[in-house]
Amino acid sequence: MPTVAIIHHSGTGKTAMLAKAVADGARSVAGTTVSELAIDGKKITDGRFADDTLFAQLDAADAIIFGSPTYMGMVSGQFKCFADATAGRWFKQAWKDKLAAGFTTSGSPSGDKQGTLLYLATLACQHGMVWVSSDAMNEVYLGKDPAVAMNRLGSTIGVMSQVAPTPEGKPTDGDNATARNLGARVARLAAKR
Ligand SMILES: Cc1cc2nc3c(=O)[nH]c(=O)nc-3n(C[C@H](O)[C@H](O)[C@H](O)COP(=O)(O)O)c2cc1C
Repeated sequence: MPTVAIIHHSGTGKTAMLAKAVADGARSVAGTTVSELAIDGKKITDGRFADDTLFAQLDAADAIIFGSPTYMGMVSGQFKCFADATAGRWFKQAWKDKLAAGFTTSGSPSGDKQGTLLYLATLACQHGMVWVSSDAMNEVYLGKDPAVAMNRLGSTIGVMSQVAPTPEGKPTDGDNATARNLGARVARLAAKR
């Protein structure tokens, strides 16, 4: 049965909330082993992230779901330091044919977070991974209240959540459902391979 790894960075905990929903979704598929991994900025030296135990878990996974907050229209610096540290895997194409997917949070409704998801997809494609889209229908079109509608922001490359940048801010129920849907989709597809 498949192993799905979720690797994310989160500065103030918002993206971590979405990561938890992605993990819950993956875990909802019977027989799936889920690795929940976080990028610790303290493990970055001279711009390069290092954590052998974390990388061993990614190497062992059938699918990797990447998550980052949107900082200045892109992934966070901490996530980019992690991505740069995957170059050794790229050189050996060690992650070729693994499934991949992604998610992000931002403070503004747009916040240029499409750029973050495009970067995550580019990272996966550089590794020869197979990118899994987010197939949740925008339920606002079905008449649902945006607070509970899945995919209210209408993103298909990956999961987007806009979270108020306040201590109480958290993803909407619909955003969490969208994240769970992605985790479950990746786990189901991984189990079929
Ligand atoms: C350095 C920095 C840059 C940011 N840049 C953007 C941005 O470009 N667009 C946006 O909408 N929000 C931006 N934000 C807000 C974060 O995307 C938002 O608060 C996010 O949910 C934080 O996630 P985290 O708690 O996982 O770090 C930025 C926040 C920080 C700290």
